[in-house]
Amino acid sequence: MTVRIRAATVGDASALYAAERETAKTPGFLVSRPNELHTAAFAARIAELEAPGHRGRYVVATGPQSEVLGHALLEPMSLAAISHIFRLTIVVHPGHTDRGVGRALMSDIVAWASSDHRVEKIELLVRATNERAIQLYRKFGFVEEGRFIKRIKLQDGRYLDDIAMALHL
Ligand SMILES: CC(C)(COP(=O)(O)OP(=O)(O)OC[C@H]1O[C@@H](n2cnc3c(N)ncnc32)[C@H](O)[C@@H]1OP(=O)(O)O)[C@@H](O)C(=O)NCCC(=O)NCCS
Repeated sequence: MTVRIRAATVGDASALYAAERETAKTPGFLVSRPNELHTAAFAARIAELEAPGHRGRYVVATGPQSEVLGHALLEPMSLAAISHIFRLTIVVHPGHTDRGVGRALMSDIVAWASSDHRVEKIELLVRATNERAIQLYRKFGFVEEGRFIKRIKLQDGRYLDDIAMALHL
């Protein structure tokens, strides 16, 4: 399948919100629970990252009919001393995983970061059980920097560890 990557627009916010809300229903994917996500927050973050001057990057992956298949964002840490570090979030939408969409999003994000001198390091946290995501990050050169034990408490009372991964540019 041909996957295209374009900059997100504020008009994408409700579709991205709906997809993330659905993804968040599966324990072990995202940290946020479905009721903690809000359309307005998606719109605000797209506007902030994609405004002229580009504080970061917010992209969507689209399929042959221009349908949105996933999204990814890279945002700088807000404090000056750690503003050379950007945090990555990536979500391939339900029904579209395992078809190369994650790889296409990662290629765009890593290429953008590599060409922008402000980005010296990309960090992310991934649930230790999310083997698919960990494999994808490793393929792009991310290494494990640490482990947060019992960082995620699921609604059934079980805990998951988080793995800290990073790409040094
Ligand atoms: C994790 C995620 C981003 C991966 O994207 P994807 O589009 O499903 O993955 P791709 O099809 O691009 O595959 C990329 C690589 O991931 C790995 N991968 C894919 N499916 C896998 C699976 N079922 N098990 C293990 N590794 C897998 C492979 O290394 C693959 O590379 P290859 O095709 O060259 O062998 C996506 O599945 C997703 O968003 N899932 C739900 C939300 C989530 O977990 N987000 C990350 C939170 S930290």
